[in-house]
Amino acid sequence: MSRNQKLVITALALLTALLVGLSLAVFLTERDGAGQTASSGKALVGGPFELVTHEGETVTDKDFRGDYLLIYFGFTYCPDVCPTELQIMSTALEELGEDAEKVQPLLITIDPERDTPEALAQYVGHFHPRLIGLTGTPEQIAAAAQAYRVYYAKVEDEGLSDYTMDHSSIIYFMGPDGDFLGHFGPGTAPEKMAERMKELME
Ligand code: NI
Repeated sequence: MSRNQKLVITALALLTALLVGLSLAVFLTERDGAGQTASSGKALVGGPFELVTHEGETVTDKDFRGDYLLIYFGFTYCPDVCPTELQIMSTALEELGEDAEKVQPLLITIDPERDTPEALAQYVGHFHPRLIGLTGTPEQIAAAAQAYRVYYAKVEDEGLSDYTMDHSSIIYFMGPDGDFLGHFGPGTAPEKMAERMKELME
């Protein structure tokens, strides 16, 4: 490769990195903007859903109006990430004290094939007494995940006897009107999460 070719390749790589960085910055700015202008009703995260609770009851997003929602998309077969995040949610709610009563924690499965209402019923109690597990048809789950910009995919691994799921791991905090208020990335400290929720609830 000539020196010029190397320079061109380096320049292209830098340009690509810059473009990826810029589009990510725009995406994140839009999301934060959605949080600040939540009352305009044009939130980019969240939206209508119809799902089935771990008690077998069909519910929609409207059934939760009046409550703040702490929402996590995951699955009960998840070996580590989901249990960790659900535990963080639970601890953050404990930290919130009395205000926690205004917050409804939700686990929406991205693995409806295995996460039946019965499977969720056995699972949610390990984390929080008020945690509601939600499942549905693959179409209902896809619609809910799309509304919350959640990525998930089935992964077949030859080394495993069963499939696993790849999925984004973000905790969403929604307002009593269904507006997006904020989100928490993986491994957020429960104290920080509680502090931020308190601010957002004022
Ligand atoms: Ni997981």
